[in-house]
Amino acid sequence: MSLSYSRIVGCGGYLPAKIVSNDELARTVDTSDEWIFSRTGIKQRHIAADGELTSDLALEASRSALAAAGIPSSAVDLIIVATTTPDVIFPSTACILQAKLGAGTGAAFDVQAVCSGFMYALATADAMMRTGAFRNALVVGAEIYSRILDWKDRSTCVLFGDGAGAMVLTRSEAPGILGSRLHADGRYRDILAVPGSVRGGEVCGSPYLTMDGNAVFKFAVKVLGEVVDETLAAHGFERSQLDWLIPHQANIRIIQATARRLGIPMQKIVVTVDRHANTSAASIPLAYDVAVRDGRIRPGQLVLMEGVGGGFTWGAVLARV
Ligand code: ACO
Repeated sequence: MSLSYSRIVGCGGYLPAKIVSNDELARTVDTSDEWIFSRTGIKQRHIAADGELTSDLALEASRSALAAAGIPSSAVDLIIVATTTPDVIFPSTACILQAKLGAGTGAAFDVQAVCSGFMYALATADAMMRTGAFRNALVVGAEIYSRILDWKDRSTCVLFGDGAGAMVLTRSEAPGILGSRLHADGRYRDILAVPGSVRGGEVCGSPYLTMDGNAVFKFAVKVLGEVVDETLAAHGFERSQLDWLIPHQANIRIIQATARRLGIPMQKIVVTVDRHANTSAASIPLAYDVAVRDGRIRPGQLVLMEGVGGGFTWGAVLARV
């Protein structure tokens, strides 16, 4: 019996308890609910408590995904965490999560591809599962962007939120994950970055997120459209065969422009950016979890997930769920 594919058998999400509405933000920075909602579709974001770490958010999402899968943490032999906001420089957040979960001594590492991080992590986990060397993988996107935002910069601080999403993959005779496409173009590294670094005990350069919003917008719409077609064509599917498109949740206008470009109706697109804002690597698994739990995504359906983010990086994963 050959078990040469991986299948998503459980998902989970976690959002910190504190919710900050646009109106609340407008009390501390010169903005308004009208400006934020009309430009981005965002109404609110969740913000981690002072003592909460990225690995804590990841832990809650992972427990929920493992419970949904009916797989004990001791059976997980691969953990990949996608994050741009790790607990510490090292060890990896995946290693910290493994210890918090009591998940044995399988492989554990982080991937850093910013808002495409979950696509990179899921594609990597799938490739590793297909070698036959791993049985159950836990793939997590977890972020606390509130700690890398300049809360005095209205052009960036209104866009992001904190959260974590997780998926459990198990080895399977049939797909499961059908395939993926990943890309990067480092020539665009400056349009979205946290350019600071730690040197000799000091922060050099800005430790806050900087962004050229218009350049990001155009780049995102272009590559999000292209990677949908590229991934579908590679596996012999048409756009019309997709049951669900789960794009990275950065901005409703980016999502709508991508949908228009592809001729995919908004009813087939999962949207959480209104409630979650942009949670970077957590946004796709969080959106997937919402749509599984509210009954929209059902077994046997064809789902395409796609992300784009700093680097610039972009990618998609196609799955029969
Ligand atoms: N509240 C009120 N006014 C604001 C705010 C704010 N929060 N932020 C900016 N403004 C002002 C600007 O100062 C500017 O004022 P000015 O004309 O007097 O100079 C005015 O609003 C217009 O600014 P623009 O940048 O032209 O606004 P635009 O309509 O392009 O929207 C936005 C900006 C929402 C950032 C848009 O460019 C965008 O969505 N870009 C994509 C960025 C994104 O989603 N990034 C997420 C991370 S990337 C990723 O996940 C892929």
